[in-house]
Order: sequence, then C-alpha cells, then structure tokens
Amino acid sequence: MLSPFFVGAFLFLGLQVHRALGFIECSVLDYGAVADNTTDLGPALMKAWQECVIPQVTTTVATDVLLYVPAGDYLLASTVTFDDAENWNLHIAGNVYLPFDPDLTGTMLTFENCDNILLNGPGAIFGNGYRYREGGDLLLFPDRPRLIRFQTCNNVEITEVTLFDAPMFHVTIIGYNVAHDMSIIASHIGETDGFDVSGNNNYVHDVSVECVTVKTPTNGFLAQRITCIFTAGCNIGSFGSGATGVDVQNVFYSDVTISNSDAGVMIKSYPNCQGTVKNVTYTGFTLDAAAYPIYISAFWMGGTDDTGTLEISDVTYENFMGSGTPTRPGVLLDCNEATPCSNIAFSGISLTNTIADTFTNACGSGLSGLDTC
Ligand SMILES: *[C@@H]1O[C@H](CO)[C@@H](O)[C@H](O)[C@H]1NC(C)=O
Ligand SMILES: *[C@@H]1O[C@H](CO)[C@@H](O)[C@H](O)[C@H]1NC(C)=O
Repeated sequence: MLSPFFVGAFLFLGLQVHRALGFIECSVLDYGAVADNTTDLGPALMKAWQECVIPQVTTTVATDVLLYVPAGDYLLASTVTFDDAENWNLHIAGNVYLPFDPDLTGTMLTFENCDNILLNGPGAIFGNGYRYREGGDLLLFPDRPRLIRFQTCNNVEITEVTLFDAPMFHVTIIGYNVAHDMSIIASHIGETDGFDVSGNNNYVHDVSVECVTVKTPTNGFLAQRITCIFTAGCNIGSFGSGATGVDVQNVFYSDVTISNSDAGVMIKSYPNCQGTVKNVTYTGFTLDAAAYPIYISAFWMGGTDDTGTLEISDVTYENFMGSGTPTRPGVLLDCNEATPCSNIAFSGISLTNTIADTFTNACGSGLSGLDTC
C-alpha cells in the first residue's frame, strides 16, 4: 500500500505535469472585445493582459499563457503598449483591421522591455495603409501608424501571422529576436519596411516580406530563405543625415529571392554619416528586374558634401543571378571620397539586362574595373 506521502507526491507530480501541458487562455472576448469590426479591440487587449495574463504567468514557457484573439473580425482603433511584458503569447486567430483615422499615430502594438514573447497566428493584421497615402502621397499623413514594435526586447518570436499593408513600417525589432514562417504583404508605396531590425544576433528566416532592413546598432544579424516582394530591397541604413556612431557589423543574408523591387541589396547612408559598416555578406540572391541589383550609396537622398567618415568595409556579394534594368548598372558603388569603401568582394555575379558596372571611391576584388585595395 502506498503511504500518504507517496500519494501526495504523485498528486503533486500530476499537477505539475498538467500545468506544463495545459495552457491558460485569456480571450479578449471576456474583456470587452466584440468581433463586429466596429468595437475597438485596443482596450480589451489591455484589460485582458492586465487582469488575466499578468496574474497567471507562472512559468517561463511563453505558450502557457495566451492573450487570445479568437477568429472573427476586429477593429483596432487605438494603440496598445505592453510594457515589461514577459513569458506570454499573443495568439491572433482573427482578422484585425486598422481604421482609416487621420489622427491615429504611433505604433498599434508595442512590446517594451520584454522577454520571451511569442506573437503568432494563424490570423492577420490589415493595415489599410493605402488609405493613408492617397495617390501615393507619403506627405499626406506623415505620422500615420506603424503596426508592431518590439522595443528593447529579447527572445521574441514572431511567426505564422500575416501582416497586410501597414500605413508605415510593419515590424520594428530592437533586441535579440527571431521572426520566421510568416508573410508581410504591402502596397508598394515606400516607407512601409517589412522588418526593421537592430540589436544583437537577430535572426529572420523563411519569411515572405516587403523587405528586411538592418538599422544601427546591429552586431550579428542573420536572414535566411527570404522572399521579398514589392520591395525596396534588403537594405542596411539609411542611418539618417548626420548620424554619428553608426555601428553595423556581422550581417549575413542568404537565399533571398527578390521581385518587383527598387533595389536588390543596398547599403545607404548620407555623406555626413560617421561610424562603421563592416563584415556584411550577401549570398545566393535571385533578382527579377531589380532597379539597382547591387548598390552602395553614400549619397542616398542626394547631397555631395563629402565630409563623412563612415567606413564601409568587408562586404561580400556571392552568387547573384537574375536581371536588373537595361538603363542602370548591375553593380553601382558610390562611396565617399574622404572614406572609400574597401574590401568589397564579388564572386559568382551573373546579372542580365544591365549596363556596365560603376565604381566610385571603392576597392575590392572579383569584378573587372574594380581597383584592388
Ligand atoms: C473591417 O473594417 C475595416 C476598416 O473600417 C475595413 O477596411 C474592412 O474591410 C472590414 N472588414 C470586414 C471583413 O468587413
Ligand atoms: C562576420 O560575420 C559573420 C556572421 O555574419 C561571422 O560568422 C563571422 O565570424 C564574422 N567575421 C569576422 C571576421 O568577424
């Protein structure tokens, strides 16, 4: 016969196992949300988070506590900030729509100072961005909303959710995080970056996206198996006019397909920027009619006053195939006279439908006409 001690131990173990396997679901429908595409989802998200999620987070398994948006149509008409968020899962099964509201500004969903957050689908967020840029005019509502921001967050995973047509940037990630297996689909109007990433050791893989942009500071970024559609390309920068202390290092893109795009891969800065962009590798790119397949510009947005000391070095381009445009170079390096681009290495570049490559203040290897350093 088992002693009471053992029975107690078994019950205790059973409880632990049950808790580890089960999860707690905090549905927004229990906190004021209505799936009528009219009631603002914002307050219900906040209430469900404060009253249900926060008190019930007991483990470090994010999927144990869900802030749950069930299937249905919801209007997100106000911004929500989850500050000091840890160890939970925003699970969006429904369709979330942004209204067109000229007064709406900021970021719709912000996670701040967060750790171990999972944001997943199978739902979608529809930004209705086209309504904020009538006729393609980006100046109409310059403060139009952005979709999602992870500010000072680590161990964030964003996956399986689809983001459509943000009025401005789709996902901003600052920290050490992973995004994978998801889509971002934008109208091709500009300033609607898919992912803007900075921080250390971020990893974006298996996504179909408008573009993946690396911002400063970044040390360690890996993007793999990316399909870029209607894109401004895989960009590093710009860093803003007059930026000092730019620091982007150890960036690696591989297996990227780009179509309907302006640039293919671009490093863009201003002639007055200062700092370092170093050790960047692009490998395995397939481009379809890219306006500028491979482009480094220290004169992004014009300007010729060449006073910068931004050092762009050790950039490798490997195995690029596909097509550019018949009026532009396949490779265009336009660097600072004061601080030339150095060690720019090319191999396996086979681009069609372009004019001759152009190199200004750059040195490296692998293409004819490029000076050795
Ligand atoms: C929900 O509302 C938004 C914004 O008002 C609208 O664009 C969208 O088409 C609506 N969705 C449905 C399914 O009616
Ligand atoms: C360059 O960056 C890659 C990651 O993209 C890293 O594995 C490698 O060690 C870096 N090389 C140097 C010399 O720092």
